Amino acid sequence: MNLQQLKAQISSDLSQILAPEFGSQQLAFLTPQIATQGDFSTPICLKLAKQTQQNPIELAAKIAAQIPQNPYIQKVEAVAPGFINFFVSELFLLEQLKDQQLLSPQASNEHIIIDYSSPNIAKPLGAHIILTTVIGQAAVNLNRACAHKVTAWNYLGDWGTQFGKLIYAYKQWGDRGLIETDPINELLKLYVEFHNVAEEKPELEDFGRAEFKKLEDGDPENRELWQWVVEISKRDIQKVYQMLSGIEFDIYSGEADRELDLPVILKEGIDQGIFTKGENGSLIVDLEAEKLNPFLVQKSDGATLYSTRDIASVKTRTLDHDGTKLIYVVDVAQSLHFQQLFATVKKFDWFKPQTELIHLKFGRMSFKDRKMSTRKGNIIHLEALIEEAISRAKEIIIEKNPNLENLDEVARIVGVGSIKYSILSQSPETNVVFEWEKIISFEGNSAPYLQYCYARANSILAQIQVSDFDSNSIQLNPEEIELLKHLTCFQEIVQDSCHKLKPHLLANYLFELCQKFNSFYSKSQVLNCQDQNLQQFRLNLVQKFCQTNKLGLNLLAGIEVPTKM
Ligand code: ARG
Repeated sequence: MNLQQLKAQISSDLSQILAPEFGSQQLAFLTPQIATQGDFSTPICLKLAKQTQQNPIELAAKIAAQIPQNPYIQKVEAVAPGFINFFVSELFLLEQLKDQQLLSPQASNEHIIIDYSSPNIAKPLGAHIILTTVIGQAAVNLNRACAHKVTAWNYLGDWGTQFGKLIYAYKQWGDRGLIETDPINELLKLYVEFHNVAEEKPELEDFGRAEFKKLEDGDPENRELWQWVVEISKRDIQKVYQMLSGIEFDIYSGEADRELDLPVILKEGIDQGIFTKGENGSLIVDLEAEKLNPFLVQKSDGATLYSTRDIASVKTRTLDHDGTKLIYVVDVAQSLHFQQLFATVKKFDWFKPQTELIHLKFGRMSFKDRKMSTRKGNIIHLEALIEEAISRAKEIIIEKNPNLENLDEVARIVGVGSIKYSILSQSPETNVVFEWEKIISFEGNSAPYLQYCYARANSILAQIQVSDFDSNSIQLNPEEIELLKHLTCFQEIVQDSCHKLKPHLLANYLFELCQKFNSFYSKSQVLNCQDQNLQQFRLNLVQKFCQTNKLGLNLLAGIEVPTKM
């Protein structure tokens, strides 16, 4: 029986006691921050005493006395001003070690579609794309751990006038063979060239627009070029995801895939009175009632926009894919866009009102020490960021453990993990400041600290075979109790993190878990323990710690753990 099941049982006991006098009740438990206040607690008597004008502490005492004996509950206590506090028994804690399952979520009918990473293509991935990529992947993993059906959707920015410019530049200065050798950087050069020349010859902008128009109208040559650019970009993007490991999508379907839906959306919008005439024949959505600026959905030249394609994509995601919750993991800078989008789609007759629409925003990213190597130009490329993290991790590992085998593999795991963890260990809205000394450090709330704890615990398990133990003869010490109690909260934390879309709750939980493991390990003999049964109990505890830490880190966008470090 896990903690949630125990709480459910107590809750049903309480309901039965309360029912005759108070009728059916909604019961919820609080988790007190102070150990002496119990492992969980209910304020229900405060509420009922108020309604019936009784003395709350007396009522709590009366109810507490009626709660049936339970081997998993050590003590039930009524305390002022009217709480009932529950303390779990050592038997309950010990049995947790016998349960092999770390998570046992209830089946769910939700289908959650998570739109993340979604880079604009045909240029190198900038370092900032790491935020949506990692936060989005954590949201995917957490929701899957909670048994929801999830579709990981990469909505590539693969459409728009920039492709017209690129096609123009390619036709002028491009060399297919050269591009094939280093696709993304060569395409970037074409862009730069276009913008440089356009500064002197502004008419280039019109040529670019004309090429895009031809592309939109289905000109075979431009279509073929565009398709080729999409292919080489995708390959490049996937190469970077591979460096990150654990970043995986079910669907790559970008803005271009919505092109064919747009005439329908425009017609529906007009027919349903949602799209109205704006300035110079443009089309807008009036959102005055929602206290938002008008949402531009068609420019005066007839061109559709990012906004129009996003409306169409809500439609496919909810109607064709049966998404019940759509989550967009996008920069806070697009807050207005998503407010306008959500307000707009709710006006369409195809919109199912029970669909949940969420913009999961995150802050900016900056670098404390500007010692990041930039290859070209001012933007920091994601690839360079990853390479730098790995090489810095390598230096630190060599310092600590010069003879480590698999040094490169461990450096990769630690370097990549450090980037992911630094993003996921703080609330998404706060700005991420990359400070290498903090991110890649064996001390403090960082990936290497958690990974090192794992490797250390794992090396214990490598030395002695783990087997069963007899719970009856175990006397727990305070560090063991602390660690066990923390372990029992794992499922609740995963659910809470998922529900609130706050991966840092899980990250902070894991950090505390490692601290508690370290206190345990410094107080309790494991390898040198003379009592065999006690040793087996402790080994089981170490094993549970390893499994929980590993799974928890994996949920955080696939952070890996090294077996040695
Ligand atoms: N490609 C966009 C950008 O880089 C992000 C797309 C986010 N998803 C969406 N459905 N609008 O800004």
